[in-house]
Amino acid sequence: MRRVFVIVLLHLFAKATAAPVIGRPKTLKPQAKPRVAVLPASAYLSPTYYLKSCPNLEGIIHRKVNAWVKKDYTIAPSIIRLHFHDCAVRGCDASILLNHPGSERAADASKSLRGFALIDEIKAEVERQCPKTVSCADILTAAARDTTVLAGGPFWEVPFGRKDGLVSLAKEANAVPQGHENITSLLSFFDKLGLTFVDLVVLSGSHTIGRSTCASVKQRLFNFKGTGKPDPTLDSKYSNLLKKQCRFDTTYVNLDATTPRTFDVAYYQNLGKKMGLLSTDQLLYSDSRTGSLVTLMATQPEFFSSQFAVSMVKVGNANVLTGKNQGEIRLNCNNVNH
Ligand code: HEM
Ligand SMILES: *[C@@H]1O[C@H](CO)[C@@H](O)[C@H](O)[C@H]1NC(C)=O
Repeated sequence: MRRVFVIVLLHLFAKATAAPVIGRPKTLKPQAKPRVAVLPASAYLSPTYYLKSCPNLEGIIHRKVNAWVKKDYTIAPSIIRLHFHDCAVRGCDASILLNHPGSERAADASKSLRGFALIDEIKAEVERQCPKTVSCADILTAAARDTTVLAGGPFWEVPFGRKDGLVSLAKEANAVPQGHENITSLLSFFDKLGLTFVDLVVLSGSHTIGRSTCASVKQRLFNFKGTGKPDPTLDSKYSNLLKKQCRFDTTYVNLDATTPRTFDVAYYQNLGKKMGLLSTDQLLYSDSRTGSLVTLMATQPEFFSSQFAVSMVKVGNANVLTGKNQGEIRLNCNNVNH
């Protein structure tokens, strides 16, 4: 019975999340010109994009990511987050990697992003083997896939062919959700990336690994909405523990309180126990638009895993630059070419 229910749901979600291959205008004017198929930019991406021009690309990325994760496991979630913050602003165009005053990377909201040095090291090796060929945006996207797999998450084919952007503005990075938003504003932010409530719930599941600085949660712990008390939607034992851990803004706490190193559905289960670290995590459970999907995820690890792969491809395709006249292949991920 339960299985049938899940299969039906799977079909519904597959329909809701399948990307159209050919985009059509929403309304056709009465005397429309002969119709030309308008492909979304992401349709120009392909897993075989570098097959001839850089056949070792995925091997290079895989080896570097492996070596770094072996030395420091915490780099895995940080790369996944870095990829999200790239795609969330101006699409997946490596704008987050540009390192100059006033860039996204210099924004307050980007303070705890890390993993830049790993991307730089991959890029240097890729430039040696395939000069002026592979974008930083593609490298970051593939690295996020590899770190997911190393963390115990699913594998998926990465479509390639993104160009690197030329513009990066700190104020745009500050619009990326910080954990204090309501579900309405998260849904509208995701909508602009072509992502649905399913993607919101599923991708928030990456908080099953990784850490947050105490700065992102201190209001919830010490002075919720000016009451001088913790957020009442937080389990009291859990909030007491966090209060002890969070004496400094820069201290890290685990996003998944029970299994912080395992890519599993414990994150969703914890939300049912008032143990979501970020208020946005906890709201996914209590909001009527997302709550039933959270509850479903809590008992369906295979659904979570397979849908995570689907949603990661979607976020990686968000507002990408493709084609001859868009963006460039950056030589160094930190700067635009001159
Ligand atoms: C839905 C809105 C989201 C909000 C409000 C949010 C918020 C946050 C916050 C506040 C942190 C901790 C930052 C700090 O160090 O203080 C964090 C960490 C993280 N986020 Fe999200 N996030 C969201 C969506 C996503 C998505 C879509 C992904 C991946 C596709 C993601 C992946 C991660 C990962 C892996 C970490 C841990 C990073 C690390 O350990 O270095 N998040 N997120
Ligand atoms: C959600 O947050 C936005 C932006 O802060 C605000 O304008 C809106 O009123 C909030 N909506 C609800 C339903 O609380």
